[in-house]
Amino acid sequence: MSDSYWTPRQPQANTRGRQLSATMDTKTIVLVTGANSGIGLASIRSFWESPKTYHILAAGRTLQKIQDAVAPIRDSPSPGHSTIDEIEIDISDDVSITNAASLIQGKFGRLDTLVNNAGGGNDTDYQNGTMSQREAWNRTMDLNVTSPQVMTTEFAPLLLKSADPRLLYITSGMSSLQEEHTRTTPGEARAPKYPAGWPKAERTAATNAYAYRVSKTALNMMFLHWVRLFEADGVKCFALSPGFLATNLAGDPELMKKAGAGDPSLGGDFIRDCVEGKRDEHAGRVIRRDGSIQDW
Ligand SMILES: NC(=O)c1ccc[n+]([C@@H]2O[C@H](COP(=O)([O-])OP(=O)(O)OC[C@H]3O[C@@H](n4cnc5c(N)ncnc54)[C@H](OP(=O)(O)O)[C@@H]3O)[C@@H](O)[C@H]2O)c1
Repeated sequence: MSDSYWTPRQPQANTRGRQLSATMDTKTIVLVTGANSGIGLASIRSFWESPKTYHILAAGRTLQKIQDAVAPIRDSPSPGHSTIDEIEIDISDDVSITNAASLIQGKFGRLDTLVNNAGGGNDTDYQNGTMSQREAWNRTMDLNVTSPQVMTTEFAPLLLKSADPRLLYITSGMSSLQEEHTRTTPGEARAPKYPAGWPKAERTAATNAYAYRVSKTALNMMFLHWVRLFEADGVKCFALSPGFLATNLAGDPELMKKAGAGDPSLGGDFIRDCVEGKRDEHAGRVIRRDGSIQDW
């Protein structure tokens, strides 16, 4: 296996003494996909700043991008004396996933937490004519549903070797069937009815992200199946709805901020809370950051 998948680092000078005593047995090994940007990157910072001790596997589909993103975090103090490796994983590529899983198997023999964070959508590519509808929908479903499904399958044996295995998915506040029924989906609440006739112009943020929404609803069902599969294994599973946060998801974080999006650190801390046991009473559920349940 090529070393280009992996960039192990020397221990930081200020953590060296502790690292010699904190073996991998005592560290929580956490892997986050899509960790070079937005909520994923914020979760890496949150784990790094925790008083608990992690070995963080920060995964990105481009090694240079993940290295550049992680560098300033590694240069700051880590109260828990955590450590980080960058790892290249393209979640849409089976070979990339398999290589990463065997690398982690060989190096650590287990994984404590898998955060399936990487995601996005292609609705605007269809709307601006750069992709066919079929391609935009297939790509969105592949990224948000098929890819985390394959990731989880490949990493399941490593999770089952953990003493406290945790499996996280990042869903969306726009994925709720109940809110669609009641027309209370964020961005939809005051939307007027579509006029009769064809074509129907998309009118709201939510309907503009139609394939994305559908993919996240499908992700919720996939998540529930993993909850059922892992019932006897003690894997704590969470699907997190992080809220509207200013990331690269829609292209420009500044525009998202102007539209009311919060800081990605809110999502990063939410992920960490689920890993550190603060939401254990909601294991197996689709949960929102504000503490409520978004099951349906
Ligand atoms: N921001 C929100 O308001 C919001 C709300 C609800 C849910 N979410 C969810 O939160 C998750 C993180 O998104 P974000 O908001 O932080 O957006 P973001 O800043 O665009 O981050 C998305 C991450 O996913 C990565 N990614 C895309 N395709 C990938 C692939 N094939 N393999 C590996 N990584 C890939 C991106 O890598 P590149 O940089 O290489 O493209 C990037 O690191 C997504 O699942 C999103 O649906 C976001």
